Amino acid sequence: MNISIRHASKSFGGRSLWENINIDFPTAGISCITGVSGSGKTTLFNCVGALDTLDSGTITFRDVEISSLRSRQRRLFRWAMVGYLFQDYALIPDRSVSYNLALATEGRKATREAMSMALDDVGLAGFERKKVHELSGGEQQCVALARLILKKPSLILADEPTGALDDSNAIMVMKKLRGLADDGATVVIATHSRLVTEHSDVSIDLGKFITA
Ligand SMILES: Nc1ncnc2c1ncn2[C@@H]1O[C@H](COP(=O)(O)OP(=O)(O)OP(=O)(O)O)[C@@H](O)[C@H]1O
Ligand SMILES: [Mg+2]
Repeated sequence: MNISIRHASKSFGGRSLWENINIDFPTAGISCITGVSGSGKTTLFNCVGALDTLDSGTITFRDVEISSLRSRQRRLFRWAMVGYLFQDYALIPDRSVSYNLALATEGRKATREAMSMALDDVGLAGFERKKVHELSGGEQQCVALARLILKKPSLILADEPTGALDDSNAIMVMKKLRGLADDGATVVIATHSRLVTEHSDVSIDLGKFITA
């Protein structure tokens, strides 16, 4: 089992979101989480990615029990293991592409050559000095994908990564995520998109667990 969620409960301000839920992500490869807005997809990602904690229950990724990590270990887990992809790309718009790539690999410098290979891989060869705000949305998501290619995280949490893209760019994102999954990453995507669920190996509907 790649990710195993056991007896998980979460509430905000006394309002229960889900109670005592069990979810397994059974394969390496790409899993997606669907569910109506407010069903807690982002909240679950924050818990799996060690940014937030469950009220009770456990989350295990491979042999790491994320839910029992202390704050320093949680930081290390995020730094060493987790890569994110977001709908709004989460880049610094007024800085260059290479500056944004360097941020992703903080603490273990990516060589210029590695950066240029990652950009080549996503079809942005020679884009190093361009400012992010000069790029289209699809190109910005490619920079975010190049960041993942450089970091090589074991766990990729993609929160609506195609939400702002047209179908051809969405397919491009799915192909790159498939490549990262084939190289051994566990990829989990929160999505409302049929195209994304069709390109995933497993689809889990979080909506059926809502107690709120
Ligand atoms: N930090 C917080 N404090 C209080 N309530 C929160 C907090 N974070 C999330 N919530 C609430 O938890 C519920 C689930 O939110 P979440 O963002 O996880 O849903 P989602 O499934 O990702 O929705 P969407 O599809 O719109 O992105 C919502 O009702 C939200 O208002
Ligand atoms: Mg969300």
